[in-house]
Amino acid sequence: MKIAVIYHSVSGNTKKQAELVEQGAQSVSGIEVKTMSIENPDNEWIENSTAVIFGCPTYEGSCSWQMKKFLDTPEANFEGKLAGFFASQNWPGGGGADFAEMTMIAAALVMGMVVYSGGVSMGYPPIHFGAVSHKAPASDIDRERARKLGENIATKANELFARE
Ligand SMILES: Cc1cc2nc3c(=O)[nH]c(=O)nc-3n(C[C@H](O)[C@H](O)[C@H](O)COP(=O)(O)O)c2cc1C
Repeated sequence: MKIAVIYHSVSGNTKKQAELVEQGAQSVSGIEVKTMSIENPDNEWIENSTAVIFGCPTYEGSCSWQMKKFLDTPEANFEGKLAGFFASQNWPGGGGADFAEMTMIAAALVMGMVVYSGGVSMGYPPIHFGAVSHKAPASDIDRERARKLGENIATKANELFARE
């Protein structure tokens, strides 16, 4: 089963988060992950993916405009796929990453995706709307959150979509 991790990153922080999300998803058996930037998406891989995990930096308290544009002008069909989210921000105490995630979640819902994070149901650390990181995942908890998000999405993709 394939998963696509799609990120926007200018200074590399969200890219590092994306790599950890990939590690977490790849740790689940039966899952193949490809990580790609919005500048160079592999649309064939996306079309063949069961789940897509989106990540962006927080800009002005919301999703980066580049990620919003990517979601507003999709070149692949995202309908029916499981969706997860992550965002990086500059301020650990609330720079708007949750709102950046909610903006991506809104777009995913409109495209007909099945939105999931695992919430508090999948053990420690809990993932609220998605994995949030201060800059490049600067702390162990930020790194663990990113890995855990990937693991949660891959586990749920197997549960929902794996064929016997
Ligand atoms: C135009 C712009 C607006 C930003 N606005 C915010 C913000 O509202 N809150 C915040 O915490 N960080 C903000 N940042 C910082 C970035 O979200 C943060 O540095 C992020 O980790 C960058 O990700 P990247 O390295 O993947 O590009 C902003 C950065 C830019 C360039």
